[in-house]
Amino acid sequence: MTKQLILRPAEMADADLLLLWRNDVETRQASHNTDEVVLSSHLIWLEASLSKPDQRRLWVAEMMGKAVGTCRADRVENRWELSWTVAPEARGKGVAHQMLSVLVSYLDGPLVAQVRSDNMASIKVVERAGFAFDKEESGVLYYVFFRQSSSLV
Ligand SMILES: CC(C)(COP(=O)(O)OP(=O)(O)OC[C@H]1O[C@@H](n2cnc3c(N)ncnc32)[C@H](O)[C@@H]1OP(=O)(O)O)[C@@H](O)C(=O)NCCC(=O)NCCS
Repeated sequence: MTKQLILRPAEMADADLLLLWRNDVETRQASHNTDEVVLSSHLIWLEASLSKPDQRRLWVAEMMGKAVGTCRADRVENRWELSWTVAPEARGKGVAHQMLSVLVSYLDGPLVAQVRSDNMASIKVVERAGFAFDKEESGVLYYVFFRQSSSLV
């Protein structure tokens, strides 16, 4: 039986956990900015992120009360751009598949995602969540997700 995954809004108390996941080697390899992030700038980023829910929404995914990942939606014009990370110890168990499926159901309007072309796990995840490949530029794959009532302008 699949364990149920829930998304709850992130809060400042999650700062240490989110920083740990952000600085994980695989997460950094998959990110645009591969630099290690220090606590002071992370706290500023997190506080700013949580204060603008119309621009950025940040969640922690939990299964059976345990934090197993995080996902984010950033407002870019009329779209939400999605990104996600699974806790290193929870990878390879279908968490990302479940997290993306729940996240997509939470958001209205067109969705987009960028995945590095060597990130096979995330390519599978984003395609199974219903995103369609749009284009590839400089080793990054761009995906779009349209609902029946949404349109990219
Ligand atoms: C990429 C990541 C999100 C995948 O999360 P996960 O929970 O381990 O993924 P899942 O278990 O749901 O597996 C997804 C699929 O990828 C496959 N997969 C998992 N790890 C893989 C790997 N290293 N190489 C190739 N395929 C892999 C799984 O077998 C599964 O395939 P299936 O659809 O055929 O069953 C996770 O590894 C992670 O957080 N990585 C670092 C951050 C990152 O890459 N974020 C995404 C940026 S776009």
